[in-house]
Amino acid sequence: MSLINKQYSVIEPGTGKLDRSIFVDEDVYQEELVKIFGRAWQMIGHTSLIPNPNDFFHTYMGEDPVILTRDNKGKLHAMLNMCRHRGNRIIRADDGNAKNFMCTYHGWTYTSDGSLEHVPGEERVYFNELNKSDLGLIQAKVDTYAGLVFATWDHRAPSLKEYLGDARWYLDTVFNRRDGGQQALGPLKWMEPVNWKTPVDNCSDNYHTVVTHLSSALAYETFHGRPRATHEQLFDRPHKHMFVNGHGLTVREISDDTPRDRAGQTNENRHIFLNFHRETMPEVENRLGHLRAHNVELMNHSIFPNGVLGFRLALPRGPLMTEFWHFVLIDKDAPPEVIEGMRRGSAGNNGPAGLFEQDDIDNWRSVTESAKSQVARNIPQDLSMGTGRSNSHLIYPGQVSDEYISEHNQRGFYTRWEEFMNANSWDDIPIDPISASFEGSAEMDD
Ligand code: FES
Ligand SMILES: [Fe+2]
Repeated sequence: MSLINKQYSVIEPGTGKLDRSIFVDEDVYQEELVKIFGRAWQMIGHTSLIPNPNDFFHTYMGEDPVILTRDNKGKLHAMLNMCRHRGNRIIRADDGNAKNFMCTYHGWTYTSDGSLEHVPGEERVYFNELNKSDLGLIQAKVDTYAGLVFATWDHRAPSLKEYLGDARWYLDTVFNRRDGGQQALGPLKWMEPVNWKTPVDNCSDNYHTVVTHLSSALAYETFHGRPRATHEQLFDRPHKHMFVNGHGLTVREISDDTPRDRAGQTNENRHIFLNFHRETMPEVENRLGHLRAHNVELMNHSIFPNGVLGFRLALPRGPLMTEFWHFVLIDKDAPPEVIEGMRRGSAGNNGPAGLFEQDDIDNWRSVTESAKSQVARNIPQDLSMGTGRSNSHLIYPGQVSDEYISEHNQRGFYTRWEEFMNANSWDDIPIDPISASFEGSAEMDD
């Protein structure tokens, strides 16, 4: 489709007023597919889902179906799941292992690196005039970070390292802790009648937790024998809220060496989580340095545009529908009790039957619906909390909010959205230089 080249001004930086038509407008949505999902690096999979040569995993970039493969030499490819002949889907399975993909329409056959290998009648009916080397599957640019696979359709995009920028300083504290890496379990998949941007901005909304999740928190904290948090306790938490290069982050500052507050810990298994945490700490410290190993833990976050809450995808399915894929990432060498605890804890909190997820779904749905009706759609959202109250920080990279609770990151997310939507190419999209000091040995993918 041709680019619409409309200039957007949907958020007022000084007041945080947000034009809510961007949640429902079909033209805006179609332009997002081109200018955001056609351009940005997107999380599409994990190396643990395709460990062997010729493994494949079917995924999406925006609405485009994508085959993620590891070819027979071990190289990763993200390719449009579309036959170059008439456009039939090459694979119909979610995952598997295959040396070749044969299109079920006329039999054109591709190898796991996307090359067109065989065409029935190449000599008899095409007279050897078909240039097979030009008719391989359409390839995206692929890169990995700590086992997470990212891809972009725009081959002129900056490197993934630049794209993540200083956000990696925080992401490392969950995704890049261990030499042996992580494994992805899942996904749980489900649809919600919400605009894809509502869960992304919710990932930076720590304000809602004590109200939206009141009943879930009551059940959860009662189970753990703790009182539920009040607003005052929420506001007093020594957490930090920051925005880097389009990515929204929240971190917990940990003053002692307690294990991460992972879902799935119970009074019975807590000591196993604790031992695992302590035993692995020397390795983590070697990888991340003392500060990040001991005192910083990534919490709610989003990776622009649609990676949320860890390895979870919010896939657009029209302006009023989002398909969620929720994975849980666990250290590969974690004890079985930790793996089982985290798996159960994740499914108990998140996913269509998740206790906390159901609270959120209700809000996102209602916020999206408000943009549909005639009077309501003309009243802007108010994202004014903490306007002007963020700064650079001596320790933490990025733009750091003065208060843990603020709408700084929502303003940042919609401003970033505008930058993508108003750009003609990557040349027009600013990227902050990497300035964080990455103590320790952990690299992008090592
Ligand atoms: S559409 Fe694939 S072989 Fe014809
Ligand atoms: Fe929530």
